[in-house]
Amino acid sequence: MAQEDVFKKIVAHCKEYGFVFPGSDIYDGLGAVYDYGQNGVELKNNIKQYWWQSMVLLHENIVGIDSAVFMHPTVWKASGHVDAFNDPLIDNRDSKKRYRADVLIEDQIAKYEEKIEKEVAKARKRFGDAFDEAQFCTTNQRVIDNQTRRDALHKRYEEAMNANDLKALYQIIIDEEIVDPISGTRNWTEVRQFNLMFKTEVGSTAEGASAIYLRPETAQGIFVNYLNVQKTGRMKLPFGIAQIGKAFRNEIVARQFIFRMREFEQMEMECYRFHDHEKLAHYANAATDIEFKMPFGFKEVEGIHSRTDYDLRRHEEFSGKSIKYFDPETNESYTPYDIETSIGVDRMFLSVMCHAYTEEKLDNGETRVVLRLPAALAPVKLAVLPLVRKDGLPEKAREIMNELKFHFNCKYEEKDTIGKRYRRADAIGTPYCITIDHDTLKENTVTLRDRDTMTQERVPVEQLRALIEDKVSITSLLKQLQ
Ligand code: GAP
Repeated sequence: MAQEDVFKKIVAHCKEYGFVFPGSDIYDGLGAVYDYGQNGVELKNNIKQYWWQSMVLLHENIVGIDSAVFMHPTVWKASGHVDAFNDPLIDNRDSKKRYRADVLIEDQIAKYEEKIEKEVAKARKRFGDAFDEAQFCTTNQRVIDNQTRRDALHKRYEEAMNANDLKALYQIIIDEEIVDPISGTRNWTEVRQFNLMFKTEVGSTAEGASAIYLRPETAQGIFVNYLNVQKTGRMKLPFGIAQIGKAFRNEIVARQFIFRMREFEQMEMECYRFHDHEKLAHYANAATDIEFKMPFGFKEVEGIHSRTDYDLRRHEEFSGKSIKYFDPETNESYTPYDIETSIGVDRMFLSVMCHAYTEEKLDNGETRVVLRLPAALAPVKLAVLPLVRKDGLPEKAREIMNELKFHFNCKYEEKDTIGKRYRRADAIGTPYCITIDHDTLKENTVTLRDRDTMTQERVPVEQLRALIEDKVSITSLLKQLQ
């Protein structure tokens, strides 16, 4: 199946099974805004809990905070976001659509790549086993031409971006004859800078109101609180501060489902450390992305940045307050350096979903859709299913459920055939199902079905908690980290 189709299926599955809905759905949605449904919120909470515990619980020198979305407007001047958190924007006068100039150019580069790949694929088919790709790419004129165009474009693009040269970006779009995918025309406006921060106002009267931003990253809440935490927690360097929270960016191009949203959630951890000059000469301003292979290609899920002492220094400068760390052992005060890990909850959620979504051909010829989620992340851990809706089976099932629901998330279902109920449980990734049948009433045993193998075993009711709890708890995942 083409990767594009797989992605469409995952998006549809997310809606059909209560994971993710388009925001304001009954009003036909709101661009790049999504709501998490009854299963989505559980999966998302489990991801956040796992991250939080692996950071805060397992490290003695990491603590958490929860800072406000609204921050003093000067924070964003100090951080550089007011001046530099921009994307280059271009409008098409015919379609009235707005695009990111850099994205249009990157798509053009990708087109050259595609042309090369097509030539290679055609030749591979023609020459079979004897095909030598390296030789073909250095001798085929069409491939060489496309490589030359791609490399020249890439160079111009990189130079224009590094120099923040909006005129040069515009000229590239004109020279490359890039057309608007909707109108098909080249009737472009000039390229302008577009600040990604959402602005609103605090204060009740127009005269008394002042501009304020919705935070575009949670990290600044950590920076402005670092000394409060360090002093009240008597933290010694190196130490870390973790935070999970919403961030907001007025993204120009909204696409790829929850990959790029205007309201999203970040899990950030800033680990302050000693400034080792030798190392930092080599490390300074380093950044690495952790990418995941989504159905639409390898994409950034987490960014790891060496932010040096930039943010703390700037906050000291703009606030006029000393926020230096005092080292009682050396009697020295200094501004620590910061290493940041920043992962998007929603992108992590999407990676987990894409990895888990499986269509499986069964021996009887049917296909089942199963989410192979790690049991500890699954929204529901156990489906409790009376075989029939009579003979006291529902009552017995409720009795078992009432005991187990205090320990993990259980879902009771009595409607439809047992086969259909198993499929529904598979589709939301429920790792275990128990079926309460007539033997349950006689022997106090149930069948325990495993999601992945679909095997069933008969187990005593009193053993259920011990059998399931350890396998579905976040602790079981955390232990694998040790
Ligand atoms: N504090 C550093 C920072 O915010 P970033 O690379 O801009 O760095 C970090 O963002 C992570 O936040 C990204 O790796 C991504 O997972 C997530 N993220 C950023 N923009 C997003 C968006 N519009 N929608 C969903 N997730 C986003």
